Amino acid sequence: MMTAEPNRLSLSLAEIIRGRRSVRRLSDRPVAREHILAMLEAARWAPSPHGRQPWRFVVLTRAEVKHTLAAAMGEEWRRQLALDGQDAATIDTRVRKSYERMTSAPVVLLPCLYTVNLDVYPDEARNAAEITMAVQSLGCAIQNMLLTAYALGLDCGWMCAPLFCPETVTAALDLDPALIPHALITVGYAAVEPVRRERLPLEALIVRFD
Ligand SMILES: Cc1cc2nc3c(=O)[nH]c(=O)nc-3n(C[C@H](O)[C@H](O)[C@H](O)COP(=O)(O)O)c2cc1C
Repeated sequence: MMTAEPNRLSLSLAEIIRGRRSVRRLSDRPVAREHILAMLEAARWAPSPHGRQPWRFVVLTRAEVKHTLAAAMGEEWRRQLALDGQDAATIDTRVRKSYERMTSAPVVLLPCLYTVNLDVYPDEARNAAEITMAVQSLGCAIQNMLLTAYALGLDCGWMCAPLFCPETVTAALDLDPALIPHALITVGYAAVEPVRRERLPLEALIVRFD
């Protein structure tokens, strides 16, 4: 199923921010390598604590690698769902859908936290704050990628699954154990238009404006 490339190049920044949406069903239309590089280039310019850029990115495009990762993550998720007491049929369905979502995406990106260049303090509270800052900046880098993808006519889906099985991901992909996979971003062209999630009104979010 091939879909036409949406033309979003004339959108303003505000329109791109508002237009970006999570798309969970992507078509099999391939994604140009330069679009992926443009997303990663945008990530590179995100703010970070002390300018340390505590992020690294894994890009997967080959079917067999996506399968290896999705199968390994599926096994671990199956184990975790059983611990939660879910029944076998529900576990099968959830794991199968997750596998399909990962393997059907033309591109899978794994933003990883990379903490080795962060400051180290003698106390745990400040070390924890340092990690929080790094995670905040990884989120900024991911948002840069999502906005760039949207502007280029692509859509992404954010899956938090790697956070729940980081060692499974690093082992399946033979990554440096210092990398902590924090998300799995599927990238491609929307197969169906998603229903937008409502947002809270601005006045409910501003708790003080003196
Ligand atoms: C940290 C984070 C984790 C998320 N994890 C998932 C996920 O595991 N699966 C999923 O379908 N969407 C996930 N999402 C996407 C959110 O559900 C989505 O952003 C939210 O519902 C708002 O919809 P929108 O992105 O279309 O505006 C995640 C988003 C964030 C920021």
